[in-house]
Amino acid sequence: MTAAGGTAAADDAATARLATFDALLSPLGTELLAAAAAALARGSELADGTRLRAAGHPPELVAAAFGQAELRSRAAAKFPAADQMFFTRPGLEQASSHRAAAHRAARFAGRGRLADLCTGIGGDLVALAAEHPVLAVDRDPLHLRMAVHNAEVADAVDPVSRSGVRERGRVEPCEADVREVDLRGVDGVFVDPARRGGDQRMATGTSEPPLGWCFALVDRVEAVAIKAAPGLRLDVVPPGWEIEFVADGRGLKESVLFAPALGTAPRRATVLLRNGEVATLTGEPDGSGDGSGDRVSDRVSDRFGDVAGDALTGGPAGGLPLRPPGPFILDPSPAVTRAGLVGTLGRLVDGWQIDPRIAFLGVDRPVATPFARILRVEAEMAFDVRRVAAAVRAAGVSALDVRRRGLAGDVEAIRRRLLPARRHLVPHGPTMTVLMTRVRDAPWAILCTELTAAQTGQVEAPERAEGAAAERAEVAEVAEVAAEGPTPAGDGPGPASAGR
Ligand SMILES: C[S@@+](CC[C@H](N)C(=O)[O-])C[C@H]1O[C@@H](n2cnc3c(N)ncnc32)[C@H](O)[C@@H]1O
Repeated sequence: MTAAGGTAAADDAATARLATFDALLSPLGTELLAAAAAALARGSELADGTRLRAAGHPPELVAAAFGQAELRSRAAAKFPAADQMFFTRPGLEQASSHRAAAHRAARFAGRGRLADLCTGIGGDLVALAAEHPVLAVDRDPLHLRMAVHNAEVADAVDPVSRSGVRERGRVEPCEADVREVDLRGVDGVFVDPARRGGDQRMATGTSEPPLGWCFALVDRVEAVAIKAAPGLRLDVVPPGWEIEFVADGRGLKESVLFAPALGTAPRRATVLLRNGEVATLTGEPDGSGDGSGDRVSDRVSDRFGDVAGDALTGGPAGGLPLRPPGPFILDPSPAVTRAGLVGTLGRLVDGWQIDPRIAFLGVDRPVATPFARILRVEAEMAFDVRRVAAAVRAAGVSALDVRRRGLAGDVEAIRRRLLPARRHLVPHGPTMTVLMTRVRDAPWAILCTELTAAQTGQVEAPERAEGAAAERAEVAEVAEVAAEGPTPAGDGPGPASAGR
């Protein structure tokens, strides 16, 4: 087999990788994979690896089985059937999670044969093939073989099918450069261009094939969806395309660009919730036309120096009122800030901005929304490290989290200065979050505690925007605001706790 566009050396390497893959699929490979998975679970990889090699099994195959078992265990966070799937390291890193893939595959409902261009190890293919015949194209023969295998595994496990009726053999693999593929007879295209070359991440804004080529697909097939980096420059997206940002918990994962034939709103923020539900918010971007909310981690200069964090540029978020913080603060999902939908969220929850350029929203009741975490304001003051440190200490906290938005400074250094001495930490006390931000253009500290789902479960975000022109909120789950995962880019580190 010849790797599309490859050199002789690359062909040899590709042949060797395919031979290893075949060997892993053999009865011996299956046995070694099971042994490696068990060793990993017990933490006895070294001893078991030695034992397997001593038993006469080929060392390369034993090593490949352990490598694959390790990838499968990492992949469990993305795929329900991970323990039966196959991955390469870059293939897994770039693969769409099962939930994200299933969410966007639904956009192709009612369409016939699809093309999954740059299929990789098949993260998206699994979801697309659940409902459609799919032409799966990749120039990496190993990825393509893995993708076909993974789609078959998913077919057996059937985690995504909505119809419940699935035909086998609906994936048509095609080892080729996507630029050379005939798309006649294709009713929709999904493309996920590579943002890694081997183990190297490509420069920001570049991909293979380039985004410009992906956008031009619409000249051949009207229904095109493109997966791109979450830090994508929005000015490269052609007018009329929908831009979606997807967060998994609090972590921003990707953007997806939908051609006009598939798009339903200018902007969309989607949050994959921990309970398996998906919440999605749509609307017009804040300050439409002036770039508001277009940055994931703005750095602009003002009289406080470098302003960092999820700042909004170009004016208030969608004309929200401007007021001092109030009793509760909503800290929007990075998908919401990145999509420029802070104003949409604010109107949905009757919120206000505490500063025209800061993405925190004030609210006067503990509203539960999947699009933000909610914090109760315990105290607020002009930002002065000594004063804030004294207030934190007086509150009797067990842990401290510092979030910075719109102010410069080394968050970790400031957190160390604010954190009470160990003897003043209260083991079962609350975790305090200090928001370092700006209020009415002044450096400000807001001392907060995060509300649990139970504390917010009583008050749900009203779906007031439903039916309003170009604004729609599909609130699938409203109580998932507490105990969220990693912080968005630009925020501070996780809490330092009394139990450290
Ligand atoms: C980001 S990964 C795809 C991930 C996939 N959507 C998933 O969820 O598993 C990109 C893939 O594009 C392939 N690729 C890059 N450039 C290509 C090209 N010009 N033609 C065909 N495949 C290409 C790479 O081999 C890689 O497998």
